Amino acid sequence: MPTITYLTSGKSIEVGTEANLLRTSIRHGGEVPFKCGGGLCGTCRVKVVEGRENLSKVMRKEVDRIGREQIEEGYRLACQTFVNGDVTLVWGTDAESLPQPASSTRLANGRESAQPLSR
Ligand code: FES
Repeated sequence: MPTITYLTSGKSIEVGTEANLLRTSIRHGGEVPFKCGGGLCGTCRVKVVEGRENLSKVMRKEVDRIGREQIEEGYRLACQTFVNGDVTLVWGTDAESLPQPASSTRLANGRESAQPLSR
């Protein structure tokens, strides 16, 4: 079973496949901040430290809200993202101070994005 590690709050939660990052956080005290729950406000933006390859495809709402550049840097909207393997994520000031993840990102158009990550 996949494990979601919410590094900023120090919680690790074992989940079923296709668990949503935000819903799991709400149910089990992961403490990811949120407002709308629908991909509109951007409050649930998290940075994936490990396991980007274990996440659902990037949704159009995510590109519209946080932009392709941040997505390539490892950011996702927790409310729009589902897991199919282990992932580790951070948010807030913790996200700014960590190195870039090295794995690629699956975009909604089906392409892989493995470009060098820049700041
Ligand atoms: S909670 Fe608003 S975009 Fe996720």
